[in-house]
Amino acid sequence: MKKGAVKTREEISLIAEGGTILHDILYRTAALAKPGVSTWELNEFAETEIAKAGGRPSFKGYGGKKNPYPAGLCTSVNSEVVHGIPSKKTLLKDGDIVGLDIGMEYKELFTDTAITVPIGKVSALAEKLLEATQKSLNAAIKQAKPGNRIGDISFAIQSTAEAAGFSVVRDLVGHGVGYDVHEDPSVPCYGKKGTGQVLKTGMVLAIEPMLCEHEYFVDFDKDGWTIRTKDGGLSAHFEHTIAITEYGARILT
Ligand code: MF3
Ligand code: CO
Ligand code: CO
Repeated sequence: MKKGAVKTREEISLIAEGGTILHDILYRTAALAKPGVSTWELNEFAETEIAKAGGRPSFKGYGGKKNPYPAGLCTSVNSEVVHGIPSKKTLLKDGDIVGLDIGMEYKELFTDTAITVPIGKVSALAEKLLEATQKSLNAAIKQAKPGNRIGDISFAIQSTAEAAGFSVVRDLVGHGVGYDVHEDPSVPCYGKKGTGQVLKTGMVLAIEPMLCEHEYFVDFDKDGWTIRTKDGGLSAHFEHTIAITEYGARILT
């Protein structure tokens, strides 16, 4: 991860400009996610829209020469936590939940945002998981203000998730963002209030709760990217890029 310095007002305006566009692309991609549609089609749409907007899909090629991430969108179905690779063979079906995570470089600045959406009619449990994950993100964003610490964000995610009966992933974290896909600091989904780095005006963070139905242990697929729950339980992921302002968090995506 890069340094993750504080951003200027001008940089934050540009990140917000890209973030607004990316938010719109993500929701229009999600509107296409229906039974019978492949995750490959979703990626095609998302990449095309990013190009039309004058951006670059920042996940594509990420991770270096050996096994670069091959798409602009991550599509993670059911027990897949994050970084699922879009495929023509992965057709969405009624009852699935699919995480859609997207990143864009726009005017040399980066944003990152994700939602998990239901396909057709999903179980009551899946609905509850989606709600709790969104609620964890909202609770975390409320803690993202100057003078608070990273641990306050982490604690908000963990306590909201666990109160709803779910667990939070330990092996993956949120992060600074803006000059690169991932910057310092790490923003874990679990932690203690009042611990970790102090939040300062101008910091830009990607906060991304990953909740699991049962246990939080994960496995990495042999494709080098897809991450699944070890026990096969469902998992959901929501993410926003936010800026710390003197008034509190400003959601940029
Ligand atoms: N979007 C992921 C995150 O939230 C990073 C994806 S990296 C990729 O941090 F290479 F898998 F795309
Ligand atoms: Co992301
Ligand atoms: Co992220």
